[in-house]
Amino acid sequence: MADLSLNGLSKHYGDFYAVREVSLTIADGEFLVLLGPSGCGKTTTLRMVAGFIEPSAGHVRLAGQDVTLLPPWKRNAGMVFQSYALFPHMTVAQNVAFGLEMRKLPRADIERRVEEALALVRLGGYGGRLPRQLSGGQQQRVALARALAIRPDVLLLDEPLSNLDAKLRQEVRVEIRELQRQLGLTTVMVTHDQEEALTMADRLVVMNEGSVRQVGSQRDLYERPADRFVAGFVGRTTFLAGTVEAPGRFRSDGGLALACAGGSPGRAALSLRPERIEIGLQPRSGLDNSLSGTVEFVSYLGALIDIHVRLSPSDRLVVQIANREGGFTPEVGQPVHVGWSASAGQVFNE
Ligand SMILES: Nc1ncnc2c1ncn2[C@@H]1O[C@H](COP(=O)(O)OP(=O)(O)O)[C@@H](O)[C@H]1O
Ligand SMILES: [Mg+2]
Repeated sequence: MADLSLNGLSKHYGDFYAVREVSLTIADGEFLVLLGPSGCGKTTTLRMVAGFIEPSAGHVRLAGQDVTLLPPWKRNAGMVFQSYALFPHMTVAQNVAFGLEMRKLPRADIERRVEEALALVRLGGYGGRLPRQLSGGQQQRVALARALAIRPDVLLLDEPLSNLDAKLRQEVRVEIRELQRQLGLTTVMVTHDQEEALTMADRLVVMNEGSVRQVGSQRDLYERPADRFVAGFVGRTTFLAGTVEAPGRFRSDGGLALACAGGSPGRAALSLRPERIEIGLQPRSGLDNSLSGTVEFVSYLGALIDIHVRLSPSDRLVVQIANREGGFTPEVGQPVHVGWSASAGQVFNE
């Protein structure tokens, strides 16, 4: 079983914690994504799993073995680095052979495995080229082939798509997932891109400032964010600043009296997902909250339209509607009505 577990994994530099007590279990064959903003400790975590950074505390277990103190080439983890890190003066085949040579495999085995790995990423016949003679997408696949050539128990991908342009990125996402499924490879991918994370992951881990904030499915993170950070980082939301006056009663700093679900009395932010809000020219009926406002800004996104609505001098809301034929077409300056149910919002006490 190529399962992987991190237990209380930490890395500090002086008194700065790059990673703080990360504990995770990744099942055999699972595709787990670590998602978080730049600087939150994703690369440090992945490099501790690969063996390039020694943890300050905690343990890494891979396929039933404690590998915490083993050097990279003695643990069976294939890593694709953020910048590919191909050796520029070495051919594609030499690059792919690198991990196998570190492991001192017989020459004939190395050659066979290099060919196999290049075939897997559809680069058979490219072995004699230098990295600079390849496109960005091809270089990315060489880096992947190098990681796969060692037949790893776990594949570690550090922002593997960040150097590719938007269209190629979407294609390579699918290629990586298909290859991962086909090989049944336990995989941990790191990214700061929420769309990439949501489309590729079996399960996600949201990190901030070195710590894990939430682990769950796409739906868990979106519908039941554990805290304000996760609510703001996964999907889009508007936060209204204000105070919970009593459980279920929120007053915004702009003076709006709103019905909400729960919350403890005190300062809080009310998170409202843009697609959960109704908008139209008539007052919204049958909803816990019904307010009037003015359209201040419109973004036409093709299938969707974002409408920024001013509700008070200090309260502005983003509403997202589907772009339906004959549907509501907002214009800047137009008076509108918005509404939502109490359960559509989530309160985060400060
Ligand atoms: N060798 C180091 N010395 C000091 N600080 C470091 C070192 N490596 C990383 N850091 C800091 O640790 C934090 C996490 O870095 P990193 O894991 O690269 O983040 P991410 O990959 O999420 O962008 C950052 O604030 C970074 O500046
Ligand atoms: Mg990084």
